Amino acid sequence: MVLISGHGTNLQALLDAIEKGGLPADICRVISNRPEAAGLQRAIKAGVPTAVIAHTDFPTRDAYDAALAKTVDACGPDLVVLAGFMRILSNALVERYLGRLINIHPSLLPEFRGLHTHRRVLNAGRHEHGCSVHFVTPEVDSGPVIVQACIPVTPDESEETLAWRVQQQEHRIYPLAVRWYAQGRLRLRNRRAWLDARPLDSPVVVTTESPLPL
Ligand code: GRF
Repeated sequence: MVLISGHGTNLQALLDAIEKGGLPADICRVISNRPEAAGLQRAIKAGVPTAVIAHTDFPTRDAYDAALAKTVDACGPDLVVLAGFMRILSNALVERYLGRLINIHPSLLPEFRGLHTHRRVLNAGRHEHGCSVHFVTPEVDSGPVIVQACIPVTPDESEETLAWRVQQQEHRIYPLAVRWYAQGRLRLRNRRAWLDARPLDSPVVVTTESPLPL
């Protein structure tokens, strides 16, 4: 199950990995909170069922999240993948799927939680940036980090070039983390990420040069 709000390039990376046989999973449904999300067309093209649950149709966050949970539960997914889903989830929803809910964030967490990460990284004069896949816990962008990809920030970088380069890395590490989960190697236990039966003291880190770990 994948939740989106926009372009769905991360969804596409997952679909491509499945198609190529590198990700032993299937996506039971793609849900968007925006009817115009381009990612919905990607799902349709790949033959994946879609649903739109527009947040504008609901008076409160709780009402929205209840409708979302109903649609998610109808599928009974092993894992709920947030891929650019631009909604803050209520604590009740996060607790409901705790350990089965992951997100990708465009920064090297715990740094630069929240929005406009590329601009903030540039303004802070950082030489390194990247993205993180993490388990979702009730505190926004704060759950245990599973894997990160780092890129150098080049001197002539703009917000747009940085965003593009970070996204290329997102498309590498998100299918990797989902594969680990699908293989039963990745779990959340006692609020820590465990990979291959060991707690991760720090996230797995990949760089642009390094081959992806198996
Ligand atoms: C990604 O940059 C991700 O880090 C953030 O939202 C963006 C989604 O992009 N959470 P896309 O819709 O997958 O293209």
